[in-house]
Amino acid sequence: MIKYLGSKRVLLPEILAAVRAVPGVRTVADLFSGTSRVGHALKAEGYRVLANDHLAFAHALARCYVEADREDVARDAERLVAELGRLPGRPGYFTETFCVRSRFFQPRNGERIDAIREAIRRKGLPPVLEAVLLVPLMEAADRVDSTTGVQMAYLKSWAPRAWKDLELRVPALLPRARAGRGRAHCADALEAARELVADVAYVDPPYNQHSYLGNYHVWETLVCWDAPEFYGTACKRVDCRERRSPFNSRRAFLPALERLLASVASPVLVVSFSDEGFVERDELEAILRTRGEVHVLARDYKRYVGAQIGIYNPRGEKVGRVGRLRNTEFLFVVAPPGVPISLPPARRAGRRRREPPRVASRGA
Ligand SMILES: C[S@@+](CC[C@H](N)C(=O)[O-])C[C@H]1O[C@@H](n2cnc3c(N)ncnc32)[C@H](O)[C@@H]1O
Repeated sequence: MIKYLGSKRVLLPEILAAVRAVPGVRTVADLFSGTSRVGHALKAEGYRVLANDHLAFAHALARCYVEADREDVARDAERLVAELGRLPGRPGYFTETFCVRSRFFQPRNGERIDAIREAIRRKGLPPVLEAVLLVPLMEAADRVDSTTGVQMAYLKSWAPRAWKDLELRVPALLPRARAGRGRAHCADALEAARELVADVAYVDPPYNQHSYLGNYHVWETLVCWDAPEFYGTACKRVDCRERRSPFNSRRAFLPALERLLASVASPVLVVSFSDEGFVERDELEAILRTRGEVHVLARDYKRYVGAQIGIYNPRGEKVGRVGRLRNTEFLFVVAPPGVPISLPPARRAGRRRREPPRVASRGA
C-alpha cells in the first residue's frame, strides 16, 4: 500500500479489537478511508465495508481493496497487470510534469507510468476493474518515488529507491466478505455519514492543516488523468487551491466534526483521535458523549519521519526545530447506553519502519 500520513497501519489491531468489541456487527462504514487499509483489514475479517473518501485516488484504492472481490477480478487483473508491465515507456504529461519540471520520479519510470496509464484509459474497463489496475500503478510509482512520503516537495538528491525499475504487482485482493459485498464511495464525509447505513461508523478525519490533496496531488492526477494546469515547484494541480476540507482548518474543524457526528446514521462510532490535532481530548469527549457512552483505547507511538528529521529550506539548510517525537493515538468507541463494550488494555508501540530520508526541499 502507498505511504500515507495518518494511515492507520500500526493501529489496525486496536481498530479491529474495537469493532469486535461491539456485539452483532456485520457492516462497517469507513467515512475517511484514505489508503483503505482499515477497510481491507475489516473485509478480511468478514465485515461488509462501505468505504468513503472525497479524493479520486482514495476512491480507486477503496474500489480495489474493499469493493472488488477476488473471485470476480483476479484472473483479469493478473492477465492485464502482466500485459501492462511489458509496455515500453512513452513520455507524456506525467513525465514532463513530474520527472522534468519537478523530480518526483526518474524519467525512465515516468515514461512507463505514462504508457501504462494511457493504456488503462484506452481499454475503457468497468470502473472496479480499472481501479484494480490503477492501484498497482500507484503503488509501483510509490515504491520508486523520491519524496519523504508527501508530495509537497521532492528530495534534493534522488532517493535510493528512485533508481529502481517500476514494477507492477497484482494487489492483495480479498474474496467477498461473509457479511456481503463492500462498496466504495467518493463523497463528502458529511453526506456519507447520513447516507451510509452500517452497524458501526469508523471516523478518521484529517487532524491538521495539511490538505491530503496537496500532499498526494500526484496520485490524484494519475487517477483522474486530466492533465491539469499546475503551479509551484511541486507542480501541484491548480484545484489544490479550491478543493479544501473543513477538517483541515483549525476554525472549521470542530463545527464540521460536530455536524458529522450528529448526522452519522450508524448507532455505534469508532473515532480515531491524535493528541496532535486541532481539538483537545476533553472537547472531543464532550461531543462524543452526546451520542452515547464513551469507551477509550490509547496507544503511544513514534511520530512520522518528517518530525524526526526536521524542517529544511530549498538549499537543504535546517530552518525549523523538531517538536516532540512521540504522540498518543486514541480510539473512542461510542455506543448507546447499556451496550457491553470490552476493550483490550492500552499498549506502547515501537518504531514505525520507514526508509531513511535525505534532506527534503520544500515545494510550493
Ligand atoms: C487520516 S486520513 C484517513 C486514513 C485512513 N484511515 C488510512 O488508514 O489510510 C483522512 C482522510 O480523510 C479524507 N478527507 C478529508 N476531508 C474529507 C471530507 N470532507 N470528506 C471525505 N473525505 C475527506 C482525506 O482525503 C484522507 O484520505
